[in-house]
Amino acid sequence: ASVLVLNGPNLNLLGTREPAIYGSETLADVAQRCAQAGERLGLAIDFKQSNAEDRLIDWLHDARTNVDGIVINPAAYTHTSVALADALTAIAKPVIEVHISNVHKREAFRHHSFVSPIAEAVIVGCGTQGYVLALERMATLLKAGDR
Ligand code: DQA
Repeated sequence: ASVLVLNGPNLNLLGTREPAIYGSETLADVAQRCAQAGERLGLAIDFKQSNAEDRLIDWLHDARTNVDGIVINPAAYTHTSVALADALTAIAKPVIEVHISNVHKREAFRHHSFVSPIAEAVIVGCGTQGYVLALERMATLLKAGDR
């Protein structure tokens, strides 16, 4: 099975951006963690990041036919983008939403997610380990659905 791990805006700055909130690991470290988890779980991982909403949406359109599941940290677009949520809805594949920080402990504008209503699961506040937890859950879902 194959899983697209998609990262939204500013996550390319991981490791240097607000390390007290997001930790010191870089996005390359997270990509490596995901690749290792994928090997262990028997999942082919495609790990991507963009700051551009249209690019994220185009990748999701490709994912309609190319992948079995999606793990997404939509970053700030979580709280703003109906377009991204619509793209995720258009894919008949399981979606798991990840946030490195505990968004519920932070500003009120981070408490609402356009993505959560269409996600199978939401993992928040587990740091970058959240990506690995999401992949473990995705492996379970894909096995159960025999995809
Ligand atoms: C984030 C939380 C969002 O509110 C924020 O805009 C981000 C990162 C997280 O991983 O904790 O960019 O998605």
